[in-house]
Amino acid sequence: MTTRILTGITTSGTPHLGNYAGAIRPAIVASRQEGADSFYFLADYHALIKCDDPLRIQRSRLEIAATWLACGLDSDRVTFYRQSDIPEIPELTWLLTCVAGKGLLNRAHAYKASVDRNLELGEDPDAGVTMGLYSYPVLMAADILMFNAQQVPVGRDQIQHVEMARDIGQRFNHLFGRGREFFVQPQALIEEGVATLPGLDGRKMSKSYDNTIPLFGSAKQLKAAIAQIVTDSRAPGEAKDPDGAHLFTLYQAFATPEQVAGFRAELLQGLAWGEAKQRLFELLDNELGEARERYHELISRPDDLEDILLAGALKARKIATPFLGELREAVGLRSFRADLQAGTQAKKKTGKAARFVSFRDDDGRFRFRLLDAAGEQLLLSVAFADGKAAGQASKRLQAGEPLDLRPIEGGFSVWLDDQPVADSPTFADVALRDGAMQGLREALGPQPD
Ligand code: TRP
Repeated sequence: MTTRILTGITTSGTPHLGNYAGAIRPAIVASRQEGADSFYFLADYHALIKCDDPLRIQRSRLEIAATWLACGLDSDRVTFYRQSDIPEIPELTWLLTCVAGKGLLNRAHAYKASVDRNLELGEDPDAGVTMGLYSYPVLMAADILMFNAQQVPVGRDQIQHVEMARDIGQRFNHLFGRGREFFVQPQALIEEGVATLPGLDGRKMSKSYDNTIPLFGSAKQLKAAIAQIVTDSRAPGEAKDPDGAHLFTLYQAFATPEQVAGFRAELLQGLAWGEAKQRLFELLDNELGEARERYHELISRPDDLEDILLAGALKARKIATPFLGELREAVGLRSFRADLQAGTQAKKKTGKAARFVSFRDDDGRFRFRLLDAAGEQLLLSVAFADGKAAGQASKRLQAGEPLDLRPIEGGFSVWLDDQPVADSPTFADVALRDGAMQGLREALGPQPD
């Protein structure tokens, strides 16, 4: 069993040490676990909501892509892409926008915070609020639901958004699923063990507090940042309180238990703050040195990064494109051609009203589906290079010959001349599958006249 894990990184800044410890490092560890099917993407549409500086957006996308790869993300093993390379995501966003309650979005924390601020200032409640900010959770729901992620690792501030994605997905299922669960229910995954790093001033390390330590600055920049960490005024030789020092917390987030114990003892024995900072510098320089080199190499080859991300987008769209096709179909955005054909088929098979619908894949190959009267998919054909072959296969299935159905994992295949030509959906259990095989025989097999 694999678990689909998905998370997005908003591309509006340069990654800092807090991002690394809190998000990047745990995500990469998780992606290496057996059974993990991980999707990581640059949430660059989300970045547009907070940032109107094109250069900054572009720079940040590049830096964040290079950071994740430099830190060891394996783009062959995971699906790593830019949100804006997947046109199905904004399209799904609209389908979801049409089922998302406005009242639900009124309750989003980020939006409410803006309104509260405006009210405090005596402004119009919605002053400065764009529709982007307001609809932020719907776009995020589309990110998650597009790939039916089961687990969504996020910070606590994002839990509400994942819950909204569940709500919106369920609403869509209810309205258009006709018994089918198009969308699974995603769970927010909060890593309890993960460090929230303090910044230079002891508050949470965050770009908005301007208290960050850059992740891949030069050794000199790293040293300069560490020099700015605020400490108490205890003199060299005076015992320090490790648990009251955020410098110690920072050290702890990157050190082995033995190193931590050693550092603690030294502080208690009166290690000077200047020395302590040097210890932290050495630790970080050691942990980040190799990745920093890889980072600068990647940044200097933007063409290669582009290739990696486009390959990721292709991989993601293999899932997104057909799935969006089904969702369009579900809401009634269907090809007229398919309808026409379906109309004639339905007439032929009155009573059963199963219908064949042919279509072409993105890559131009030919397929057909068999849908039941309710539009539920009974079969999806293999891809045929030529349209005639696809047409002949679907004709033969309608000719009333006995069907050659063969069980496969989770479902069954239909065979013609010792070749599989179409597959059923997957079923939760064998009884359902056998029922569906029987139903198909009745719908397509020899017809009593
Ligand atoms: N909103 C998230 C953040 O700011 C980023 C994000 C966008 C995201 N889409 C997502 C996270 C989908 C998880 C899943 O942190």
